Amino acid sequence: MKQHLDIETTPKHVAIIMDGNGRWACRRGLPRMAGHKQGAEALRQTVKNAAEFGIEYLTVFGFSSENWKRPQDEVKELMKLLRHYLRSETAELHKNNVRLCIIGDRNAFDADIIELIRNAEMLTANNDGITVVMALNYGGRHDIAQSARRIALRALEAGTVPSVEEVEKQFDAHLMSAGMPEPDLLIRTSGEHRISNFLLWQCSYSEFYFTDTLWPDFDETELRLALQSYAKRDRRYGGLNAEQNREG
Ligand code: FPP
Repeated sequence: MKQHLDIETTPKHVAIIMDGNGRWACRRGLPRMAGHKQGAEALRQTVKNAAEFGIEYLTVFGFSSENWKRPQDEVKELMKLLRHYLRSETAELHKNNVRLCIIGDRNAFDADIIELIRNAEMLTANNDGITVVMALNYGGRHDIAQSARRIALRALEAGTVPSVEEVEKQFDAHLMSAGMPEPDLLIRTSGEHRISNFLLWQCSYSEFYFTDTLWPDFDETELRLALQSYAKRDRRYGGLNAEQNREG
């Protein structure tokens, strides 16, 4: 375990929008795919670093539901990379006691990818180290809509409409991230300051951290900087902190 952080303020759940692969490649005169490949390497390292920092959940945006709009060649290559990542990393993740979960609509992927996902989830299901959640074909609005729909179906069966308060309470249990804590810290790389339809409901009270660093260059030092920034935050969840309460 890395000793440099105050354990009390280490976020339990970190979410990352891994952005900037294309620009990383472009700046080097390389094809965009070279950036994605280096991005996969940065992901591999970040999983390792996050586990060593004592983070319990790491959720990464691997492929958004909007990424299908990219040129067909890039989508095809990204699918190839995903296949390769799942094939080559699953055994290693398992060896390192990582639990892998996928959120998003997996049914849009080719059958062999769905099978690789299923195998990786099954193999690592009982691991009790860090949980790595890969958002694949994920969209926050879709997640919210499917949760609302499931609550509506239950209401239909029960023949009674729950109160707004009750719906809010039930919502978490129907989101794709059910059973996981909400992200404490959301990191976005590459200088973009958007949430891009990521974990919209789940990030209601997350602290945001933006860095100009492009995702393929995101390393242990970068993660440490993000965690140090988080450790200084004063999370109030809309209320007051202890000092303000005493003064009031
Ligand atoms: C954003 O960079 C990144 C993605 C759309 C994909 C993220 C993928 C990886 C980190 C590779 C590992 C993931 C898998 C699924 C194995 P961008 O292409 O939008 O960069 P740009 O904004 O500079 O063009």
